Amino acid sequence: PPSGSHIAVVERPAIEVPTAVKEITILYGSQTGNGQGVAEQAAAKLKEQSFDVTIQSMSDFKPTTLKKLEHLLLVVSTHGEGDPPDTALPLYEFLHGRRAPKLDHLQYSVLALGDSSYEFFCKTGSDFDKRLSELGATPLAPRVDCDLDYDEPAAQWLAAVEVALQIQTGGQSAAASLEVENTTSTQYSRMNPFRAEVLENINLNGRGSNKETRHLELSLEGSGLVYEPGDSLGIFPENNSELVDKVIGEGSWNPEETVEINSQGERRALRVALLNYFEITVLTKPLLEKLSNYSESERLKHLLESEQASELRTYIEGRDLLDALKDFGPISASEQQLIGILRKLPARLYSIASSLQANPDEVHLTVGVVRYEAHGRSRQGVCSIQCAENLEPGDTLPVYVHKNDNFRLPTNPETPIIMIGPGTGIAPFRSFIEERSETGAEGKSWLFFGDQHYVTDFYYQTEWQNYVKDGSLSRLDVAFSRDTEEKVYVQHRMKEASQEFYQWIEDGAVIYVCGDEQNMAKDVHATLLEILQQEGGKTLEESEQFMTQLIQEKRYQRDVY
Ligand code: 2AM
Repeated sequence: PPSGSHIAVVERPAIEVPTAVKEITILYGSQTGNGQGVAEQAAAKLKEQSFDVTIQSMSDFKPTTLKKLEHLLLVVSTHGEGDPPDTALPLYEFLHGRRAPKLDHLQYSVLALGDSSYEFFCKTGSDFDKRLSELGATPLAPRVDCDLDYDEPAAQWLAAVEVALQIQTGGQSAAASLEVENTTSTQYSRMNPFRAEVLENINLNGRGSNKETRHLELSLEGSGLVYEPGDSLGIFPENNSELVDKVIGEGSWNPEETVEINSQGERRALRVALLNYFEITVLTKPLLEKLSNYSESERLKHLLESEQASELRTYIEGRDLLDALKDFGPISASEQQLIGILRKLPARLYSIASSLQANPDEVHLTVGVVRYEAHGRSRQGVCSIQCAENLEPGDTLPVYVHKNDNFRLPTNPETPIIMIGPGTGIAPFRSFIEERSETGAEGKSWLFFGDQHYVTDFYYQTEWQNYVKDGSLSRLDVAFSRDTEEKVYVQHRMKEASQEFYQWIEDGAVIYVCGDEQNMAKDVHATLLEILQQEGGKTLEESEQFMTQLIQEKRYQRDVY
């Protein structure tokens, strides 16, 4: 449960591990870097106990060496419609292919990361688990599926793994150390965010645009926080206070009643807990299942038991906690029980839009404001609406730097780069070009940008034009989709320039894609395959293999959401 259970923190001296289980390999695969963070924590803890730990991104791992391993931990997330992250694809395909070896000698455990508001929750982790078991490997500890608030379940998984390893090695007491993360550190991190002051907050869209996109500049002065181009900034947003009050009113709860907000037993008033610590704008199946313990609603029972999963999905879509309380009330839960059905409010990650070298002590973001109508009410994105309506220079936001090693400028400043970033997907490329300009990198660069209208939606237009003028940006292709009768998208521009595009790939260019995952990134991927076939004379299969190879060589990197 997200709260209510105490996790004991047991101090334990480092133990000598007999030679039996010395070596452990940890592989992570995640699009955003969460998996890497968890894997690194696991590696650090196991190293403390004298295990010989190798930790690697799945994309850096040679699948053929699997045969030599005896202990393997996988930390992997799931994307979109149950898809593996790009960096997990090579291993995923190898294990599911004809060349997959027998793994009788292997013990493993999987930590699956996911989001229970999606239908294929933790599917990739579950696929890996099933496949390893089919190939003869034995589980060291059961797979754990984590929701967005993964800290506590991840710590529990690691504790179970440690116990299993200790039993095997004949180690001493198998008491598990369930420390979540060191919170006493003076360094700012996700567990200990820095309150960054807002220096600037402007709307990038012109009057008449269908969109609102905020350019935020925050001060990192005094934080000691550093970042690289490609990293994201995590922001802990606040829920809308009107919505919080309506939720509390709907259940006739007492806003001042204190509730436990984490497994360390910290307490806050219910109203504060709902404002700052728990998610109330998204419904998930687990949430409704827990809610049904406090509801007599036949409709809710029907939704949860229905053979047709689509009924539940349709209900969840676009609805929030207030809808569920109204639709399935009265709810007989106490204040603490209400908190017990909710997920922790996850931080929002925004791709950083600035270079620290070019803007010391500052971090810039490009935040698309989410507003829509659904089920008779206007709805809003929690964090973006706070940025748009409730954040002025001088205000502060709790932030941390989220490393993303899956999205990095090439180490060689002469390597050409191709950047595809329509809409707010432009953000990291502003960081890339600022950095390359600031450091005088010589490599060619090509930017594809698109949005609805040239006049109102061309973010950072004058900056790009200046970069083109001074040579920091070699080529800029834009696609404004609603200025012409026929829609034009970035991939159409890629296709128009397919010969040059292919030449850049031949010249060793790294291809970056940032922005919408569902439509844009899929179509751009398909267009890349077309270009490879058309210009490189490859078959579709060869083109797909080539893309997998590009991923492995870190020449195709995506930051998509
Ligand atoms: P549209 O809204 O006119 O459909 C940034 O949001 C830009 O991405 C907009 O111009 C949007 O166009 C465009 N876009 C929408 N779907 C896309 C897709 N499948 N591929 C590429 N761009 C897309």
